[in-house]
Amino acid sequence: MLTSIIKSRRSIFQFKPEVVPNTAINQCLEAAIWAPNHGLTEPWRFYVIGTQMHIRLASIYAELRASKRANKTDINNYQSVYDHAIKKFMSIPKLIFVGQAIDSDLVVQAEDFAACACAIQNFQLAAWELNLGVQWSTGPIINAPETANLLQIDPSKIQLIAALYIGYPKAIPNTSRRPYLELTQYYD
Ligand SMILES: Cc1cc2nc3c(=O)[nH]c(=O)nc-3n(C[C@H](O)[C@H](O)[C@H](O)COP(=O)(O)O)c2cc1C
Repeated sequence: MLTSIIKSRRSIFQFKPEVVPNTAINQCLEAAIWAPNHGLTEPWRFYVIGTQMHIRLASIYAELRASKRANKTDINNYQSVYDHAIKKFMSIPKLIFVGQAIDSDLVVQAEDFAACACAIQNFQLAAWELNLGVQWSTGPIINAPETANLLQIDPSKIQLIAALYIGYPKAIPNTSRRPYLELTQYYD
């Protein structure tokens, strides 16, 4: 059962417009926090985004996208990329940011990142069990100072490591993996 959830889960990029219930989000968060973490540092922090914050974040997302992709000398082109980005971002049914509490020790930092990744995978698997899909995004919005500012996060203490886009899948991509035998060595 667990293995079939692990193997069938896919990153989801297209969502149905249905609302994601808060109870489902909380179930996924409850699974997330049981991830292994060295020294019980519990380095994960979660930022669950509501409608008003989603709208504010969309402006940051769209500005970042338009300034990267649009022809800056062509105002119409900038506006069209910007508008398209707002639409795309607002079509994400539910948004959660994940932050890592930054330890001063570099070894602890590396271990804490690994623990946060485990927590995110727990979240994704619990979501999949509830027929919800997740995309783990590390796009520029997670590093923008404007995002930290909006979420009232001190970037010297918390580093955002993921934006999780969550919703009921409209399409499930086909991805594959190399057989583990190609990647594994066995010793006597
Ligand atoms: C650390 C990490 C960062 C990722 N960042 C992105 C991202 O910025 N954009 C994206 O589309 N997918 C991102 N993904 C999702 C991967 O692209 C996805 O897991 C991969 O294509 C394999 O597909 P699957 O999850 O369906 O097996 C990220 C995954 C991980 C683990």
